[in-house]
Amino acid sequence: MTILVTGGTGYIGSHTAVELIQKGYEVIIADNLCNSSESVLDKIAEITGTKPKFYLVDLTDKEATRKIFEENKIDAVIHFAGLKAVGESCLKPLMYYYNNIASSVVLAEVMAEYGCKKIIFSSSATVYGEPETVPITEDFPIFTTNPYGTTKLMIERIYTDLAKSDSEWNVTLLRYFNPIGAHSSGLIGENPNGIPNNLMPYIVKVALGELYQLSVFGNDYDTHDGTGVRDYIHVTDLALGHIAAIEKLTDPGVHIFNLGTGTGYSVLDIVKAFEKANDIKVPYVITARRPGDVPILLADPSKAERELGWKTKLGLEDMCRSSWNFAKKTLNK
Ligand code: NAD
Ligand code: WQD
Repeated sequence: MTILVTGGTGYIGSHTAVELIQKGYEVIIADNLCNSSESVLDKIAEITGTKPKFYLVDLTDKEATRKIFEENKIDAVIHFAGLKAVGESCLKPLMYYYNNIASSVVLAEVMAEYGCKKIIFSSSATVYGEPETVPITEDFPIFTTNPYGTTKLMIERIYTDLAKSDSEWNVTLLRYFNPIGAHSSGLIGENPNGIPNNLMPYIVKVALGELYQLSVFGNDYDTHDGTGVRDYIHVTDLALGHIAAIEKLTDPGVHIFNLGTGTGYSVLDIVKAFEKANDIKVPYVITARRPGDVPILLADPSKAERELGWKTKLGLEDMCRSSWNFAKKTLNK
């Protein structure tokens, strides 16, 4: 089976490409490299022994996207490509709406032209906005608090409407919680440009000595230690969730799943776990809450376990150790 992985040189896409190749799938990657590097292809080759075929393509470009389908017989698409920074999306909403939505529409149009009607889309827990209770099940109301989140919600709707209009489409919407960690080889991982917005990449930069200290955004939430609680999921477990979706969801229609662990950790839990797993200090200071943050986000992942036979295996220690292993091996050069 040949799988097109859009955004496949990015963080989650590259880990998924590795798992797919190791399970015997043929992988083709399409990416415009706006937030990743072509060198990731060599890393994938180093891990798996196979360098995936690569198209340097902006998916908003229909002709260029068509070429991929013209030259290959694609059985299914895993659509990771997109811009993902919440703060930037508030400053540049049009860039986010255009890039994320236009690319998703163009991709589906071209897929339909070539009779490829199976897509797995990277959605996000951000579509649950500020839920009133946790854990969150897939039938919770969806609404968003920032343009990035709105692009995810809109693409979910667009693909759902597409599946309603044509009963041959098989659409899977995977709502990721907080992916962290890196491949066990230390060759691929998360490598954001500039000062990171997310917790784990920030901790890593502090541990590397590139940033002075972590700001912990608020310790007056109603949580066990006052700091924000999230459902962190190892990126390798997340990657395997996509393979379960490819293999188990053979019926057309719309399939929606949370991908998380169901266990919550606070910011200070993560700092302490990182220090313990890696025997390194992470200096931090408590600062004001970050606007838009909620106290607790936690998945109920039981639907994915029931219907996909998928369950996370890797715990917090693995997440912390692998993030640091990648940083030392690959970032600290
Ligand atoms: P990433 O930035 O590492 O990967 C996304 C890739 O898409 C990048 O390589 C980028 O160059 C590419 N891209 C962007 N726009 C493109 C376009 N128009 N044409 C072709 N390529 C394009 O991000 P990631 O963390 O791997 O996230 C992958 C997907 O998962 C994204 O859609 C993101 O919104 C979603 N997601 C991520 C998280 C997270 O915390 N990392 C959580 C929930 C959902
Ligand atoms: C986690 C916790 C912060 C940085 C974001 C997106 C979401 C999804 C995943 C894409 C929170 C605290 C953070 C720091 C801190 N992405 N924190 N100091 O906000 O849960 O989710 O990434 O879809 O849409 O919003 O993740 O890693 O930014 O924050 O104290 O320097 O760490 O307040 O409690 P978040 P995060």
